[in-house]
Amino acid sequence: MKRSTAAPLGDEANGTCDALSTGGGRHDRIDHRNRRNAPADGNGPRAQTCAAAGADESQTLKQTAYQECLETIAAIWSDEGGASLDDIALMATINSVLANRFPHFYWTGFYRVCGDRLVVGPYIGTIGCLLIEFGRGVCGTAAARRETVIVPDVHQFPGHIACDPKSQSEIVVPVFGPDGDLIAVLDVDSDQLDAFDEEDQKGLETIVGLFEKASW
Ligand code: SME
Repeated sequence: MKRSTAAPLGDEANGTCDALSTGGGRHDRIDHRNRRNAPADGNGPRAQTCAAAGADESQTLKQTAYQECLETIAAIWSDEGGASLDDIALMATINSVLANRFPHFYWTGFYRVCGDRLVVGPYIGTIGCLLIEFGRGVCGTAAARRETVIVPDVHQFPGHIACDPKSQSEIVVPVFGPDGDLIAVLDVDSDQLDAFDEEDQKGLETIVGLFEKASW
């Protein structure tokens, strides 16, 4: 199977990709840039049209980035006999592909379900806490609800566990195994506020959907 390169986001399409590095913050930067050509009040129709076009374009780029990550992970899996390995190998591969593709993914990793708590698994980033009770923090909340939790500002999330003070926003996605059991959560932190949106949710949920297809 062909491997896509999953090149890092950053300098393609000039400002558009720097815009890609965040969710809400990104939109702020696009608005600001387009206001240079806007009427003096900065709120004219041209500014709004440009901002909307920039936002659409950056969402499309983000979709493409996630699709390429998915293809890269699936290709590595297929090329290197991943189906005979285990979920730890897939977690490590997913972390590497995502962290290299999205420079604003400051901490990318998995917490595995072990009994009634979460235990840290493979990750890329500064030291993560080892154990998280179900229902505690963002990870424990996503695990207890069995649904994705997006936190635009971690300082506003009651019970947020601050493993690294640089973390500003976070997304946690539940990971299900082939039997539909919750086996882990994928936790991604950004050092920028409001870095994640529905497009990230869609992209990450699709990628961790690979665990449901696993046969080990
Ligand atoms: N912030 C998480 C804890 C894990 S670290 O961010 C790596 C939480 O609140 O669950």
